[in-house]
Amino acid sequence: MSVIVKRARAAAALASDRTAEEYAPARYEARTITKSFGGANALTGASVTIEPGEIHTLVGENGAGKSTMLKVMAGIHPQDSGDLVLNGTHLRGLTPRTAIGHGIYLVPQEPSLMLTLSALENLFVGIIPRGSMAFSVDWKAMESSAGAYFQQVGLHIDPWAPASQLSIAEQQLLECARALAHRCNVIFFDEPTSPLTAREADVLFELMRRLRERNFTIAFISHRLEEVLAISDRITVLRDSRVVAHFDNPKQTSHRQLVEAMVGHEIAVRQRRQRDLSGAEAVLELKDLGAPDGAFADISFMARRGEVLGLAGLVGSGRTETAESVFGMRRASGTVLLAGKPYAHRSPSSSIESGLIYLPEDRGHNGVFANVEVVRNITAAFVPHLPKRGQLLHPRAEVEVAEKAARRTRVVAPSLDVPMKALSGGNQQRAMFARWLLAEPKVAIFDEPTRGVDVGAKVDIYGIIDTISDSGVAVVMISSELEELVLLCDRVLAIYEGRIVGEVTGDEITLERLGAMVVGGGASERD
Ligand SMILES: Nc1ncnc2c1ncn2[C@@H]1O[C@H](COP(=O)(O)OP(=O)(O)O)[C@@H](O)[C@H]1O
Ligand SMILES: [Mg+2]
Repeated sequence: MSVIVKRARAAAALASDRTAEEYAPARYEARTITKSFGGANALTGASVTIEPGEIHTLVGENGAGKSTMLKVMAGIHPQDSGDLVLNGTHLRGLTPRTAIGHGIYLVPQEPSLMLTLSALENLFVGIIPRGSMAFSVDWKAMESSAGAYFQQVGLHIDPWAPASQLSIAEQQLLECARALAHRCNVIFFDEPTSPLTAREADVLFELMRRLRERNFTIAFISHRLEEVLAISDRITVLRDSRVVAHFDNPKQTSHRQLVEAMVGHEIAVRQRRQRDLSGAEAVLELKDLGAPDGAFADISFMARRGEVLGLAGLVGSGRTETAESVFGMRRASGTVLLAGKPYAHRSPSSSIESGLIYLPEDRGHNGVFANVEVVRNITAAFVPHLPKRGQLLHPRAEVEVAEKAARRTRVVAPSLDVPMKALSGGNQQRAMFARWLLAEPKVAIFDEPTRGVDVGAKVDIYGIIDTISDSGVAVVMISSELEELVLLCDRVLAIYEGRIVGEVTGDEITLERLGAMVVGGGASERD
């Protein structure tokens, strides 16, 4: 069959708006898949079966082989050995295009839309006859069927808007709409929720549940174990390229069981540290801080020497804006005191000089120099203090300092000379902690320090924060993971719509209490 005829048929099918339900429910098996990249095994005899009507989640630490599994199953990487079997039929020589023909679609970790094309065009790329036949495309019909797909995935956008104008969340929904437009009923999601806010993730989960009701075959990858346990019907755990565990009943599975399967050994249950810091001196004080744009107002609090002070709140509640104002990245009215002295003309460089550091939330855009060597990333804030030879940095000194800091925060890297982007998210974050340790801060503000890192790195980061605070640094910790605040903090303030609405200390810090406070309820009296 010629390409033109195929495309014409696809377009005709599209026009008649056939839906995925016309396909037989798809049971998709990967049997003993082995795949190596340049001698290193990404998958070793790994098997997984995804049933129609289920959300099947793959979990595992970074590098375990999860993405490779879905990419093999979606025809992006050919396997070295092993079989792909769809409803009893062996799929041979699968490519992304033939996979879609079989109804298999991977929503990749980074949306792969063509950003200059409209949402509408993206939806139908690969279906619309292009080139000489382009003039005959019935855009009116396209637009109306696009509307139906957008509606199915809950996407409310202008179909003619370029994809570059869509948020990441909208781009993902558009990828799902694409899967439906291509009449796929086996849909894979590779870490879709990592870049999403909690609310956006809920929209995506609603869609996944609706697709499950329609008997779609769904695979999902995520590091957020709470959401994994909540949404999955079955869970497969990968470790070091192998499948090491299955959980067929996530409702009866604990967070801890999952983590132990992922890391391959028992984990110590973290106990909250019981410390009384009420007598420690205040090293950071905020008095009536307010933002000119109203992002926050009347923010007053202090952080004590050695204390871990949590800032709980919803995304957009003003926590990050407050931190940025203290650090000197944005303007604010009100007063900041550092170690008792007014700190007025704030800028990031004077903050670092004064012992106040800020680890921003978005490592991709703030702080990490992706193309620069790890060693330079680590010493970036420390350069003025390094031994010099005349005007020049002593190169060996820089490396030694970086190596020492990297050991303290357990950075795993082939060498500190590789560019930062060669490291996993967790190791990049360890390197950023190394940077800030070198600055020897008195106050450290960490914004979502564990976002997007895997469980092993998370536990390490908790350990680093313990060590930093034990050394007398006041740590201000912004986190959307309430569990994390419960485990780490001596005291937590809740911020709601730009204002502090509650404060809890010690054993008052519970999930229930924080959960109520971050939505503006359950506020306790503040002194
Ligand atoms: N395209 C590739 N080229 C070389 N190595 C790769 C490639 N994709 C993955 N790998 C390696 O294969 C292993 C598994 O990676 P991946 O499947 O991405 O893990 P996960 O998704 O579980 O984090 C890792 O060691 C990774 O470095
Ligand atoms: Mg991956």
